[in-house]
Amino acid sequence: MSEPVQTPLTKSAAFPTRIFSGIQPSGGLTLGNYLGALKRFVEKQDEGIETVYCLVDMHAITVWQDPVKLRHQTREAAAGFIAAGIDPTRSILFNQSQVTAHAELAWIFNCIARMGWMGRMTQWKDKTAGKDAEAASLGLFAYPALMAADILAYKATHVPVGEDQKQHLELCRDIAIKFNHDYKVNFFPVVEPVIEGAATRVMSLRDGTAKMSKSDPSDQSRINLTDDADTISKKIRKAKTDMDPLPDHVEGLKDRPEAKNLVNIYAALAGHTPAQVIADYAGAQFGTFKPALADLAVAKLEPITTEMNRLMKDPAEIDRILGAGAARADALARPVLEQVYDIVGMIRSRPM
Ligand code: TYM
Repeated sequence: MSEPVQTPLTKSAAFPTRIFSGIQPSGGLTLGNYLGALKRFVEKQDEGIETVYCLVDMHAITVWQDPVKLRHQTREAAAGFIAAGIDPTRSILFNQSQVTAHAELAWIFNCIARMGWMGRMTQWKDKTAGKDAEAASLGLFAYPALMAADILAYKATHVPVGEDQKQHLELCRDIAIKFNHDYKVNFFPVVEPVIEGAATRVMSLRDGTAKMSKSDPSDQSRINLTDDADTISKKIRKAKTDMDPLPDHVEGLKDRPEAKNLVNIYAALAGHTPAQVIADYAGAQFGTFKPALADLAVAKLEPITTEMNRLMKDPAEIDRILGAGAARADALARPVLEQVYDIVGMIRSRPM
């Protein structure tokens, strides 16, 4: 029996519930992206909530991207979304650069947000730590203002993300509050982060204290949604662990980051809580648990990979889907942006 792992969304009287989220096509999708974000995007869509999902290609170029690879990765990510269950007729699925409202609203937010807010972002600090921050792009520094624009161009109320995006969403709230305050309006909602489930922070398979990431130099540290069954299985069997058997209570996973990570991955894939996994595998050695996890991961991921590969054979169809999604996104965002220009005091007299 599965215990519910989701809590109902809090509702706002002033703003209808709408979900927005995004993923950078700056590399292949990982198991972290899938469990922390994509799988949950599908759940929200299937609950019948209005959902807008975006491949944030403009965020991706805040660090250098090879243009040919960027285009390929954007299509591959779109294929991953659809293969995982995003239905582009029910959700709006598109790439950010095709809807210019994002960039336009980001400029306005650049004038609302303060330098100090941006400088305090841990992702900015991490990405420039030990490096010459002066050499980082201005886009990387202003990244969270574009992220706020992504969300608020749709007046989205809820944003499902992994734990690493929490601070960026707090900044999005600060931008909405300051905009509403400075212009004496109640125009933008103060968004709620939706960070839930067993895998809000999937860790590296090589180091239980580091996040699983597409930018980790070691491919063994992550499972990619493009990995075949054999590769997934090998990576899990070789994952770093300690020598002890699994405990009989989740509290026993404290101070055992690698064991905890594998239990959380199992729980998220199976749709269980970590406590249920521990109840089933209490006292099991990794020699038993890892093959069970590998089988589960292959059973859940292989159909997605197969479908992704099939979709990637027709890139023109993927581009068509993204274009149609962009037109629908634009129809929502453009009127919001026009109202923002009006609130800010800009003349809009060009014939349409
Ligand atoms: P990005 O592309 O790094 O990651 C996309 C989503 O995947 C989640 N995620 C993880 N979750 C659990 N464990 C992990 N190891 C893991 N790695 C990644 C992230 O939390 C995220 O939800 N700034 C965002 C993209 C973005 C965005 C937005 C998100 C741009 N605009 C507006 C929400 C709303 C980012 O870089 O995510």
